Amino acid sequence: MYRLKAKARLCFVLTRGAMRRNQIVLVLVWVMGIYATTLLCATVDYDHRALLIDGKRRVLISGSIHYPRSTPEMWPDLIQKSKDGGLDVIETYVFWNQHEPVRGQYNFEGRNDLVRFVKAVAAAGLYVHLRIGPYVCAEWNYGGFPLWLHFIPGIKFRTNNEPFKAEMKRFTAKIVDIMKQEKLYASQGGPIILSQIENEYGNIDGPYGAAGKSYINWAASMATSLDTGVPWVMCQQADAPDPIINTCNGFYCDQFTPNSNKKPKMWTENWTGWFLSFGGATPRRPVEDIAFAVARFFQRGGTFQNYYMYHGGTNFDRTSGGPFIATSYDYDAPIDEYGIIRQPKWGHLKDLHKAIKLCEEALIATDPTISSPGPKLEVAVYKTGDKCAAFLANDNDNSDATVKFNGNSYQLPAWSVSILPDCKNVVLNTAKINSASMISSFTTESSKADTSLEASTSGWSWISEPVGISKADSFAKIGLVEQINTTADRSDYLWYSLSVDLQDDAGSQAVLHVESLGHALHAFINGKLAGSSQGINSNKHALNVDIPITLVAGKNTIDLLSLTVGLQNYGSFFDIWGAGITGPVILKGLKNGNTVDLSSQKWTYQVGLKGEDLGLSSGSSGQWNSQSTLPKNQPFIWYKTNFAVPSGSNPVAIDFTGMGKGEAWVNGQSIGRYWPTSAAPNGVCSDSCNYRGPYTSTKCQTNCGKPSQTLYHVPRSWLKPDGNILVLFEESGGDPTKISFGTKQVASLCAHISDSHLPPVEMWNSDTKSGKKVGPVLSLKCPHQDQVISSVKFASYGTPLGTCGDYYHGRCSSNKAMPIVQKACIGSSSCSVGVSTDTFGDPCKGVAKSLAVEATCT
Ligand code: GAL
Repeated sequence: MYRLKAKARLCFVLTRGAMRRNQIVLVLVWVMGIYATTLLCATVDYDHRALLIDGKRRVLISGSIHYPRSTPEMWPDLIQKSKDGGLDVIETYVFWNQHEPVRGQYNFEGRNDLVRFVKAVAAAGLYVHLRIGPYVCAEWNYGGFPLWLHFIPGIKFRTNNEPFKAEMKRFTAKIVDIMKQEKLYASQGGPIILSQIENEYGNIDGPYGAAGKSYINWAASMATSLDTGVPWVMCQQADAPDPIINTCNGFYCDQFTPNSNKKPKMWTENWTGWFLSFGGATPRRPVEDIAFAVARFFQRGGTFQNYYMYHGGTNFDRTSGGPFIATSYDYDAPIDEYGIIRQPKWGHLKDLHKAIKLCEEALIATDPTISSPGPKLEVAVYKTGDKCAAFLANDNDNSDATVKFNGNSYQLPAWSVSILPDCKNVVLNTAKINSASMISSFTTESSKADTSLEASTSGWSWISEPVGISKADSFAKIGLVEQINTTADRSDYLWYSLSVDLQDDAGSQAVLHVESLGHALHAFINGKLAGSSQGINSNKHALNVDIPITLVAGKNTIDLLSLTVGLQNYGSFFDIWGAGITGPVILKGLKNGNTVDLSSQKWTYQVGLKGEDLGLSSGSSGQWNSQSTLPKNQPFIWYKTNFAVPSGSNPVAIDFTGMGKGEAWVNGQSIGRYWPTSAAPNGVCSDSCNYRGPYTSTKCQTNCGKPSQTLYHVPRSWLKPDGNILVLFEESGGDPTKISFGTKQVASLCAHISDSHLPPVEMWNSDTKSGKKVGPVLSLKCPHQDQVISSVKFASYGTPLGTCGDYYHGRCSSNKAMPIVQKACIGSSSCSVGVSTDTFGDPCKGVAKSLAVEATCT
């Protein structure tokens, strides 16, 4: 009895609803005097087919949300939208450098409140996959490693090195302990069903040789020894030692097999898009391709699949990795950066999840029998007893096909999978989208209220940041220093300063040659900006530049500002790639063709900016100047203004068009680096994206020739009704009066459904039950519960053309479409219209028809 009590308390940590349920069960158990472990605390195990929760194999759909990339106030809504989208599991990394910024000093507050996040997931009734790493990659600064780790004597990262292993074990154990104390493992009644150790080490382990192999074996046994009661995974680690499950990451994982026939086939990162870089175009991944990849995975025996990312969020502060990872980590995920569902991506995947779940009993009962009825065609059947589910795939990237299966014929569009939960009827084809789509827009305060920013703010004040050395803690050293070792990443900035006496070269045109490991550089001669440069991807972001300069008689000051723009997060030995001006630095083209190598001179160094030391980012201190003319388009200016919060409850963003590069703070909270002058190149985008055929991260890019990122998210919870302070540090020159504040919202809802579309997944089997044939249906739903459809901008039944926001009538259209859709939809928060000649009559006999609608909600 005593043991029962102890165990029962162990499991009292689920959601309130679950707790009540547990209490009831507990009382029953108590009365019956039965040992309660298996009833109250879930066991998580695995076999070759699936994860087993309480002994039952499960088909699990998971999605990544990284807690520091949104705010605790956003978490419940993001998690609810994930649940509504059909997820069972939320996956997150654990970010070591957030939690232990100084060795031994922990931070689990605010966006770093991991326990609160895990509990929020539990409260929604979902499971958690906790990827502790503690190396995480994730486009996160230094891959998640705290900088102090680099300075531990004798340390070598991610290899068989005692100092590294000791720290990795200490942090991993710390996280596991916190989770255990809070009873968050499923084995204790909590939501965590799975944990990850390391991250994709197998992709880069070659250069680590035999020491890498020992390290991975050590990591496996270290993790296992922590006794979490739930399985551990390693992703992209073909040699993951037992009992660790090796899992797959990629755009497709259907061909993957785990390294033992005792382990299930699991997919930990299905990239829903790709990350944005400053200077890069915006990656988009079509949902038809994602759905195809997911269906192929389940077709070929997968039972756990995770979207990376389901909500990407924002790289606030200086958390973005890199270099040059943008502040937005939108990722083209099913929930956008601002927390708005992205349609039709979210909706189509939701339908897909329902379709897969309709097959769950057959999927977990057996292995698939796979056959190929033709080139690039594949049929998988899960059949046992009275259960039968089938997946029919057409892997051809340009030709549709007809597949005969069980005596029936099935039309399969190219690059698609049809799912048959009863081995007879198709519930969903991955290329046919029933879900509505949406266009979201950014509305500026000025366009709403017709007032300029200058009117909505109380004007700007400013402070100049000195060029060159200005702080007392500057120091001199012979030779050029590596940047990360010098700044320890306390700041993006390191000044390299030197005075040279050049009597003979007065007024002469010369060239300053600078070689730097990156990431970017501004060179000043005698206080004036002479040139800037930034590193290139193909050379580990190193830069090598010749800057034309003019020298004066006598003393010339050379001030070089070297910048990091997010520390490297990926690659073998990425932690020691380094940054900064390691040289040589050479004056070339002097009189008589002389050159002077300055590399071994005595340079003066300054880590960071004066304004950083003065804490100008909070806006409160400092001598803010508001009397004289506001400097515009000049480098190194701190700007400050007050602003009122944009009205309503939609997410807030700042449009930094007009600014150069820098960092911005709202009420002292860094909203990240901004860089609207960094533009996507031309020629790497595609106007239309063909989802058919293998996807790559550069296949479907948009936004060519435009700034990579102009809008920056300001979480609502950081704002007050009035008197908000925005501070910017502008590095290269901009006009802050051009900045605008605004909100993100859904501007239009659209759907385009043909008469060959399948009925909605919810209606699966309803015709067999009701006896009525169910056809395709066009459905619209306003994004917010309190909204109604207020206008129908477009409705056409026949052969409408175009895309959302730009539909137009085709050759044939029924004049009944508009009144029918208006009647069904206006004034309601959602509506459904059958797409058939029964509803609209037949405007063109013998022609394939469709219904296209665009509506707005208010
Ligand atoms: C993977 C890595 C993730 C993330 C992703 C790209 O290789 O595991 O952490 O970096 O690539 O977004």
